[in-house]
Amino acid sequence: MVKYSSKTEVIPFSPIRKIFGEAAKLKAQGKDIISLGIGEPDFDTPKHICEAMFKATRGGATHYTPNKGIEELRKAIVDKLKEENNLEYDIEEIICTVGVSEGVFLALSTLLDQGDEILVPDPSWLNYSHVPRLYNAVPVLYPLTSKDNFQIRVAELEKLVTEKTKVLVVLNPSNPTGGVQRKESLEQIAEFSIKHDLIVISDEIYEKIIYDSNKHYSIAAFPGMRERTIVLNGFAKAYAMTGWRLGYIAAPAELIAPMAKMHAYNVSNATSMVQWGGIAALKGTQEPVNEMVEEFKKRRDFMVKAINNIQGLSCPNPGGTFYLFVDVKKTGMTGEEFSDYLLYEAGIAVVPGTAFGERATHEIRISYATSMENLERAIIKIEKALSLLMIKN
Ligand SMILES: Cc1ncc(COP(=O)(O)O)c(C=O)c1O
Repeated sequence: MVKYSSKTEVIPFSPIRKIFGEAAKLKAQGKDIISLGIGEPDFDTPKHICEAMFKATRGGATHYTPNKGIEELRKAIVDKLKEENNLEYDIEEIICTVGVSEGVFLALSTLLDQGDEILVPDPSWLNYSHVPRLYNAVPVLYPLTSKDNFQIRVAELEKLVTEKTKVLVVLNPSNPTGGVQRKESLEQIAEFSIKHDLIVISDEIYEKIIYDSNKHYSIAAFPGMRERTIVLNGFAKAYAMTGWRLGYIAAPAELIAPMAKMHAYNVSNATSMVQWGGIAALKGTQEPVNEMVEEFKKRRDFMVKAINNIQGLSCPNPGGTFYLFVDVKKTGMTGEEFSDYLLYEAGIAVVPGTAFGERATHEIRISYATSMENLERAIIKIEKALSLLMIKN
């Protein structure tokens, strides 16, 4: 009998994968299932990005690259950070990673030791609360609530910080809430981080998927923050490149050095031809990004209105991403019960809030990264399932 490392037992199987396994089973049985669960754009990668990758492959970009990535891509990232985020880095302060997922792993494994505490938003994308456990570090979950559209409250952080706290995670914009941090919130978080001498991991993967008058600010650009911030960003969401697995880390040289070492032992380098696609994404036309965001905005407007018109459901108007975080308390069910009910009664796959933390017991996450036609059909099915529920009760 194989004896697994005890490390594998401290991290659970992703509850999101479990739901999709169940949805796939129902689909295979011939049931009409609409997925509002998946966290990826339903658009294809823009053609000019694919062409750049093909051209590079034909031209021989099939070998290992430098550990941190090819200079041309790191230079393009440095330029992007300067122009769009008001951040100055040297190309040696950039690591190209295999998705932001690898960036998260590198940052957490480089920073955390046994007993270290890390402040993680509740709710948040799963990796930030599970990966620290591999290092016997302690994720301490700080609450976000819909009341103030999921702003991070320093008063809440102050209640949880101890002398063991080493890292603060900021998702801006956030998966799963869609919340965008206001400038004033970030100023206060910056002050808090400096006061308690914390390293901030700032996940900015949704920075370009943002609506209305909301504006994305990188916390690394606030006074005193560059030296204590690890910026994580990537190509998956903004450029519809989820399958390419390309992201990057920007951080001061002293933090980059140990992460580059971990990166070398982990994957050696990000895939060579994919890095050339990344250059085309950053340097080429941004029109496909603008068109995609415009389409997401139409869907968001439709979904927020439709969900709030359904008796028993409510959600705030999110400033970014392609997620809605929906309160289902008035249905009398928990988020988990409601997700099951929607799947089996209406054929709609969504994710319960508890997949993202501990507090969101009566919420679900809906992704609107699917066609308008699917969204319209989904709303009709949800309305019908809920009216049945009212009759039954
Ligand atoms: C906040 C956040 N960070 C990182 C990732 C993973 O990004 P990548 O596909 O580049 O690994 C996701 C994916 O859903 C995410 O929501």
